[in-house]
Amino acid sequence: MKTGIKSLQAHRVWDSRGNPTVEVTVDLEGGARGRAIAPAGASRGTREAVDLRDGGSRLRGLDVKAAIANVNGRIASALVGKDALDQAGVDSTLIELDGTPLKSELGGNAMVATSLAVLHAAAAGMNLPLWKYVAQTYGEEASIPLAEIQIFGGGAHAGRRVDVQDFMVMVPGAESFDEALEVTAEIYAAAGEIMARKGRSVGVADEGGWWPVFDSNEEALETLVTAIEAAGEKPGNRVVISLDIAASEFAQDGGYRLALEDRTLSSDEMIAMLGSWINSYPIASIEDPLAEDDREGMRAFTRAYGDRVQIIGDDYLVTNAGLVEAAADDGACNAVLIKVNQAGTVTESIATLSAARKAGYRGVVSARSGETEDLSISHLSIGLNAGQLKVGSFTRSERMAKWNECLRIQDEMGENAFVGGAPLANTWWGKGRNGVAS
Ligand code: PGA
Ligand code: ZN
Repeated sequence: MKTGIKSLQAHRVWDSRGNPTVEVTVDLEGGARGRAIAPAGASRGTREAVDLRDGGSRLRGLDVKAAIANVNGRIASALVGKDALDQAGVDSTLIELDGTPLKSELGGNAMVATSLAVLHAAAAGMNLPLWKYVAQTYGEEASIPLAEIQIFGGGAHAGRRVDVQDFMVMVPGAESFDEALEVTAEIYAAAGEIMARKGRSVGVADEGGWWPVFDSNEEALETLVTAIEAAGEKPGNRVVISLDIAASEFAQDGGYRLALEDRTLSSDEMIAMLGSWINSYPIASIEDPLAEDDREGMRAFTRAYGDRVQIIGDDYLVTNAGLVEAAADDGACNAVLIKVNQAGTVTESIATLSAARKAGYRGVVSARSGETEDLSISHLSIGLNAGQLKVGSFTRSERMAKWNECLRIQDEMGENAFVGGAPLANTWWGKGRNGVAS
């Protein structure tokens, strides 16, 4: 069998934070090869697949020798001879072999690198670029996503200098993916100049966004609006703001601890604060506005603002189809972040996107804060017609490589493959851009 798995080999490589991670290479009988690297999160949901780390004092306990041994031993034994085209079969073998709810036995890192490497090998075996193989296999119309790009980092990615984790822009009014990147490049540079002028240019956060030297979360928002204007754009016109609050990271005893402002908000007060931001700034998307266990808060927030902004569940939904279905029954969120390593396998990630679509939720394929040169998510977002892609900032090559790969694929597909503002159709932006204060 040409696409039968001949061998699997794991190696230790290093991620964008200089931490060890797992790379898996899969060779097929016919000579095709696939390769993938596990990314790593810093603000992780408690319900997501867990990485297997060796512990101890060396490399701050983060080494991955056990995960690598699992791939080279048990995983290889179980998968050699299986057909790489049967992704669902490969992934269910991995899931059974692991046998734990959070993939702690084999390690989410071992599993995700294996699952993605098999997908790459299958595409290579079929002589197709990954995005095209994915589109054909899963019956999707491939499209180039709307990019969500970080200008200021924060939260767990910036020593908790500000509470909010990501201050991002989207350019739904762009005519092409390339134009969206060009507008973003201008905004990123303008933001850097503003920070430099204030004497606050001290480097970048984990995903390459400017380090958030601000006195309040709102000052970051104000500065972002100023940067959009300095780039020659009218905020809320072509360009909108997107936030990842990552609220689980500062949830404390049922409330929310704003370290920067030295005060603790109740869930209701948190909703009121975010609501005032939505009323004052051109925000079209908010991720994890409330904590992963604040079900009532997430429902209340969605009731209040779900018809105006996209509300993405990241830690809240952890790329889990069952949690998406439960949230849809509950009226919580209206979009889901898709991180393959949160689920642990390709098949489970795609099942989550399917569940989201069934519920009328949008999907945003996302990188992690610890990334590598692996380009799988660019291809997945395109081949699965996800509509949106979140990769981090507009600097540092573990991020830029993913934007650049989308550009190459856009060239192949032609400009009308770009989804433009369609993913934001059900937000104020898509409904005629009413309610923008600026
Ligand atoms: P993480 O953050 O990769 O550090 O978990 C990314 C996100 O919260 O979207
Ligand atoms: Zn997030």
